Amino acid sequence: SPDKLAKIRDDLVCIARAAGEMMKAADPSISGFDSKRNTSDLVTETDRAIENMVCRRLQLTHPTINFLGEETFKEGQKLSDEPTFICDPIDGTLNFIHGFPNTAISLALAIAKKPVVGVVYNPFRDDLFTTVKGQGAYYTNADDIVRSLPIRPVLPPLSLHKSLVAIEWGNQRDGPNWDLRSSVAHRLLSSKAAGGAMVHSTRSSGSAALDFCYVAAGMMDAFWEGGCWAWDVAAGWCILEEAGGIVASANPGDWKPELEGRLYFAVRAAKRDEQRAVVEELWRLMAGR
Ligand code: IPD
Repeated sequence: SPDKLAKIRDDLVCIARAAGEMMKAADPSISGFDSKRNTSDLVTETDRAIENMVCRRLQLTHPTINFLGEETFKEGQKLSDEPTFICDPIDGTLNFIHGFPNTAISLALAIAKKPVVGVVYNPFRDDLFTTVKGQGAYYTNADDIVRSLPIRPVLPPLSLHKSLVAIEWGNQRDGPNWDLRSSVAHRLLSSKAAGGAMVHSTRSSGSAALDFCYVAAGMMDAFWEGGCWAWDVAAGWCILEEAGGIVASANPGDWKPELEGRLYFAVRAAKRDEQRAVVEELWRLMAGR
C-alpha cells in the first residue's frame, strides 16, 4: 500500500544517513582499496562495511523482502519478481577514493523488477533525493529545504543540440562496450556530426545514480550509459520517472526497459514527444547514423 511504501522510504532514508556518516568517517587513502574485475573497478572496506550494515538493518525490519547488493552479488544471481531491496553502498567508489565529493548511497525497492521506492544520498554535499512511486520526487539539500522535483518545472523545449548530457565511462577500457561508449562520446562532442556539436556538452560525474537525480532535477538534460547494473540505476530511475522523465533501453524501440537491461537512456523535458525525440536521436547516434 502507499503508506507501507512511504514507511519503507523513511527507513531507507535513515539507513542512507547512517551510511553517510560511515563514508564521512572513513579515510580510503588509509584503509586502501582492492580491484575487482580490473584496475578501474575498485572496492573499499567502506563499500563492504556499508552494504553489511544496510543488509543487516533491512533484514531486521523487513525480513520477507529479498536483498540484492553490489558487493554481495554472485555471478548468475537474477533479480526476481519478488519485492527486492537493491543497494549500491557507494556509487562513485572511484570518486570516494579520490576525495571527489560526488559519491552517493543508492537504495531502492523493486517489485516485479520495477523500482517503486528510491533514495539517493550524497553525504559530502548533504543532497538527498527520494521518491515513492505515485507520490512525487523530492530533493532535500544541506539546509533541509525540501523541494519537489523537477526543480525547474518549466523547462525550455528540449532538443539534443541544446542539451547537457551525462555520459559515464564505467570501468572497462577495451572490448565492445568500450568501443560503444567512446564512439557515442565522440559523436556527441564532435563538430563534424551535424555542422556543429550534437550537444552543448557532456559531463561525467562518476556516479550513475546521481546523474539520474541531476536529470530529474533539471540540472542536466539526459543521461546515457552502456553497461550499468541494477544497483547503479534502480533508485535514480524511480526518482526520474516521478519527476516526469523517462528511461529507455538502448535497444532501439524499447521504451520499457528491464532493470537488468544494462544500457540506459534517461531523459527529462517538459513534453513527452520532446523526450522521445531525444531518445530516438540517441538511438540513431548509437547506430552511427
Ligand atoms: C559506477 C558509477 C560509474 C558508472 C559505472 C558504475 P560504482 O558505480 O556509477 O559512474 O560509470 O558503470 O558501476 O562501481 O562506483 O558503484
